[in-house]
Amino acid sequence: MYMVTEYGKFDDAKREYVITNPKTPFPWINYLGNEDFFGLISNTGGGYNFYKDAKFRRITRYRYNSVPMDSAGRYFYVKDGETVWNPGWKPCKTPLDRYECRHGLNYTRITGVKNQVRASVLHFVPLGVQAEIQRLTLTNESAEKKTLKLFSYAEWCLWNAATDGENFQRNLSTGEVEIERLGWTAIYHKTEYKERRNHYAYYSVNCPVNGFDTDRESFVGLYNELSEPQAVLDGRSTDSIAHGWSPIASHFIEVTLAPGESKDYIFVLGYEENEEEKKFVNEEKSASMSHNNGLITSLGEKDHHIINKERAHAIIRRFATVEAVEAAFAELNALWDELLSKYHVESSDERLNRMVNIWNQYQCMVTFCMSRSASFFESGVGRGMGFRDSNQDLVGFVHQIPSRARQRIIDIASTQFPDGGCYHQYQPLTKRGNNDIGGGFNDDPMWLIFGTTAYIRETGDFSILDEMVPWDNEPGSEVSLMEHLRISFDHVVNNVGPHGLPLIGRADWNDCLNLNCFSNDPNESFQTTGNQTEGSKAESLMIAGLFVYCGRQYVELCKAQGERTKEEGLQAEAKRAEGHIDAMCKAVEQFGWDGAWYLRAYDFYGNKVGSHENEEGKIFIESQGWCGMARIGADKGMPEKALDSAAQLLDSEHGMVLNWPAYTTYHIELGEQSTYPAGYKENGGIFCHNNPWVIIAQTEAGRGNDAWTLYRKISPAWIKDQDLHRVEPYVYCQMVAGKEAAKPGEGKNSWLTGTAAWNWLTISQHILGIRPTYEGLMINPCIPSDLKEYKVTRKWRDAEYIITVKNPHGKQHVDQPTVLPYEPGRHEYTIEL
Ligand code: BGC
Ligand code: NOJ
Repeated sequence: MYMVTEYGKFDDAKREYVITNPKTPFPWINYLGNEDFFGLISNTGGGYNFYKDAKFRRITRYRYNSVPMDSAGRYFYVKDGETVWNPGWKPCKTPLDRYECRHGLNYTRITGVKNQVRASVLHFVPLGVQAEIQRLTLTNESAEKKTLKLFSYAEWCLWNAATDGENFQRNLSTGEVEIERLGWTAIYHKTEYKERRNHYAYYSVNCPVNGFDTDRESFVGLYNELSEPQAVLDGRSTDSIAHGWSPIASHFIEVTLAPGESKDYIFVLGYEENEEEKKFVNEEKSASMSHNNGLITSLGEKDHHIINKERAHAIIRRFATVEAVEAAFAELNALWDELLSKYHVESSDERLNRMVNIWNQYQCMVTFCMSRSASFFESGVGRGMGFRDSNQDLVGFVHQIPSRARQRIIDIASTQFPDGGCYHQYQPLTKRGNNDIGGGFNDDPMWLIFGTTAYIRETGDFSILDEMVPWDNEPGSEVSLMEHLRISFDHVVNNVGPHGLPLIGRADWNDCLNLNCFSNDPNESFQTTGNQTEGSKAESLMIAGLFVYCGRQYVELCKAQGERTKEEGLQAEAKRAEGHIDAMCKAVEQFGWDGAWYLRAYDFYGNKVGSHENEEGKIFIESQGWCGMARIGADKGMPEKALDSAAQLLDSEHGMVLNWPAYTTYHIELGEQSTYPAGYKENGGIFCHNNPWVIIAQTEAGRGNDAWTLYRKISPAWIKDQDLHRVEPYVYCQMVAGKEAAKPGEGKNSWLTGTAAWNWLTISQHILGIRPTYEGLMINPCIPSDLKEYKVTRKWRDAEYIITVKNPHGKQHVDQPTVLPYEPGRHEYTIEL
């Protein structure tokens, strides 16, 4: 018999995923913080913290791709007699009598029980605070008095996560700390603080301690592992002061608990910045500090650079009591009540409810905050915010906190070039375009239209169009955002190839289809090499579909704005744009149709990509999705035919693969595309991000049953085999191994993926069919025929709509969508299919 192991389950009432076996098939992580201070935390306490930017402000150290997996984090050790254990099982891996990890919305609670001692740690970042709170509750569940030794552990990163992992000749000599023993005990990390840095980090506990360590070697032992720190084995810390090498922060507390007694400790792991003139406490004070404040520093008496700790003190004081922690935790939960109340569905399908009401929306928030920067698959040093990625992430999030989406749009648009091209990425800390990767990805500009129009439909805030936004952050170069949109649209118009189809540039959405970059040198990056535009015939059908779909959004916007402002030029602009869109549709019908599906591209030489004439890579998903969504060639039945072909050739048990057959040989003229082994990533993997494009195209074709079937195939709530899937069963992953892979169904790259936003758009607006428009709230469901009824509560602008959709006759779509006019207040409607 085939046995399926379950490592955890959903607790919908609490909005948590509960992991009951620490040996998950891969670390299952969560995200703390949703403003500026963030933490990644695995189900065993692994992970790290950073402030705003995972590369430039890394606070604690993490070793990616290490052995054993996930072996750095925030750890607590309990020494009970000769037994040493961790509440999260790792790193000691002492078998626990009970283990539970509850990942909730921006918090995680890890509980371990061993020999009748219970240690439960709640981790979260309070709203408006730049610190992770760790509330540790120790309980003696035995009938005897127990004396325990408790050690905390965090390892500091020397701020820049990239150089921290490479520049050891410097790093191993720069580390500096301060230790402060007031009523609380705080360890400060201040490497480079005396010079160009104005920030420090700290790790405190709200009580006196029996000892501490700040030097890794002293605490762990040079040849020991984190599972056997010498200090813990010895049952006492060494009060070590870090002088270079690897600074850490560890508190040592001895605690005696009566039978049944519980004690709480509040640890704060925080980050603060000081103004230049307020960086240090003054000289005389600093000389006397070490006496009256129990202050010890790496430099001792000679230290002229004692940190001004006012800001940290305020936080440490604020979270001195359990009541304060509880209040801040309640505030975080209330924020999530509010965020999730914007769109809520009630149906008879608990998995649908769970995805829509909790997990999909939660993942959208996380992805919006992180872009692709930091996960267990993204090291936080490689990438900043993607231009296309951030615009897409925005549509998953805009209904939750529209003001943050507004700022994001301005930030993104500010990295655009005057010809409409865009920096492909920018760093969140500086908001500057990233020169390493540069521009030339020809789909990028259209996404700005996609993101901005979604924002205005949600909010009705047309004023964003008048915002003055620079080109490439150059002061003085500002033009209106509306002008940015026009130039974005024209970037495609101005860059078409021999068939009148959009030139692809370095790549379109598919980063690996690099049709102008030929590389035979393994030391080159595919995306930033070459881009031989001279003489290139490389055109993209994906951009063609994107242009038609988002171009129509641009037309609609011009008309709506023209109506509002009575600016005549805008109606003419709409007409002009329509002309280009029609021309593009004709070009696709004439040169982009392969007989039974849409071609994917023409390569540098003008040869077809994604055609039945090709040996491999005969059909690609992106063009079926986008040209299908745009319904190009609808009068000739093209979208329907393309969907049938996709169902026949791309579909599988776990979702639709990106291309078929996957490439088994290297095609230099396709760039990175054929470098992946067959069935993985962009070469025949199930790229969850683009499945929703097909699902939306299916709803546009009125195929509710097909849309629902594909929606469920890639949804985490429907995962059957957690061992096979491996990654978190509560969030989407970027890719699931495709049907030609060695292990079809194995997931990778969880959490940070445009999949979250696209599935949100798909289920909320296209399947359940509740869609904001300029005129009103459109109700246009396209559902499986056996879904008999559901109710959506949608808070939209200053109104609340309660919409009941009834489907007594088992239909798949409405004949005509209804548009409910926008009117503040509460409204109830019932619609029948
Ligand atoms: C590709 C990577 C590429 C990355 C860049 C991914 O989907 O598989 O190889 O470097 O996108 O954004
Ligand atoms: C991941 C990138 O972040 C995204 O921009 C791209 O579209 C996909 N990979 C597909 O290649």
